[in-house]
Parts: sequence; structure tokens; C-alpha cells
Amino acid sequence: MSWHATALTLFPEMFPGTLGHSLAGRALREEKWRLDTLQIRDFATDKHRTVDDTPCGGGAGMVMRPDVVDAACTAAQQMSALADGQERPLVYLTPRGRLLDQQVVRELVAGPGVILVCGRYEGLDQRVIEKRGMREISVGDYVLSGGEPAALVLLDACVRLLPGVMGGATSAEEESFSEAGAPLLEYPHYTRPVEWEGRVVPDVLLSGHHAEVARWRRGMAEAATRERRPDLWSRRTPAGAFSH
Ligand code: ADE
Repeated sequence: MSWHATALTLFPEMFPGTLGHSLAGRALREEKWRLDTLQIRDFATDKHRTVDDTPCGGGAGMVMRPDVVDAACTAAQQMSALADGQERPLVYLTPRGRLLDQQVVRELVAGPGVILVCGRYEGLDQRVIEKRGMREISVGDYVLSGGEPAALVLLDACVRLLPGVMGGATSAEEESFSEAGAPLLEYPHYTRPVEWEGRVVPDVLLSGHHAEVARWRRGMAEAATRERRPDLWSRRTPAGAFSH
């Protein structure tokens, strides 16, 4: 049974979007993972098919109704039980959520899949988030106009870790954020030509000394992490013993 994602959205045409291309798209066609969408508006009950209403307490924007979103969640979970025989976690994409990182991605990939709830307007009524025990996830400290691009980001990060999706088996493991708990940014990459517009590839990368290449890369990764991401650098344990 392949890893299964369902997006609950008012804009199902935004899926698979960028994921229809490249390795994720090929893997989707090869049924290495599965993606479907549910139109939240289909679960509205009035003749105008209303999905939102004004915020209680006043203020700008509109809030998505809990009853409509709840009915869409029920449908997704019923489909899930039939298709997978396993319950998938409900993930609500929101800037109020826990920041997405590689550890969260690995956790989601280890399960049967995800049901992604994409909000528009000011987001969902808090009561349906609580009733459904939704896992709230943010893709960064900025505000998007809807959850759909965030859902695509989350799916991209997950799908590339699925077995058989990335061609070169180890590159997914080597790169930034692969080391659980003590992530480093990646070292810089070079290819041919060896000299380009007066800029040369570092000698060590042409030396054929694998141990020296590995040491150089490690040093560059550490320097980049220290300079660019002091927050990540300070999370490294002293046992890491790289206290330059
Ligand atoms: N919806 C709007 N902004 C978002 C963000 N930064 N992360 C996840 N979902 C969002």
C-alpha cells in the first residue's frame, strides 16, 4: 500500500501543481505514492454552499465554518479507512503551527500518509481544530494567502524520502538536515569546467583523496552553519566536539 495524501481544499486544481513534475511527478504516475483532493465546498449544507462566515468578536477577514470542515474531515477519514485500512493524521497548515523541519518530515513519511487541511481567509474555527486533534504545521514565519502552497511544500519534502523516489539513493541522506538532532547546512558543490570565468574548483575536490574531500566538506558545512544559522549551530551537543 503506497503512502497516501489527501488535500482538503477550496482549490483542488492547485494539486498536484509543482509535484506533477520532476521526480515526485514520475513517482506519482508510477503509483509510488497517491494523491487525491476533496473540495471542502462540497460539504456545505446551504443553497449558497457557504464555507465561511465573519469572525466572532469582529475584525477583518472570514473564518471557515467548523461544521463544513468537520464533514470534509469525516469523508476523508472514511475514504482513508477504506483505502488504507489505517487512520492517517490530520495536518492543518497554518502559520500558528509547529515549524516544519526534517524531523517532522521523517515522522510523517514513516506513517501511512497525511490528510492535509488547507485554510483560506483567516483560517479555521478553532473548535474543529481541537475536536479533530489536528496537527498544526507551519512552513515558515511568513503568511501565505492559503494553506495550499504550504501543503505542496510539505508533500515535496515527504515524497522525496519515499523508497524508490529519488534516483541516487544516498544524496537524500547526505544533504542538509539529514543528521537527526544535529543538522548542518550542506557544503558547497562544484562541477566542470574546472575553471570558469576566472573562478576555479577547490584543489582538494580534484585530488582524488576521499578522506581529505570528506574533511574539507565537513569543515565547509560547519563554517556555513556557524555563520548563517547560529540557531542550528548552538543546538549541536558539545560531544560533537567542533568548538572552533
Ligand atoms: N498558511 C498561511 N501561511 C502559512 C504558513 N506560513 N505555513 C503554513 N500554512 C500557512
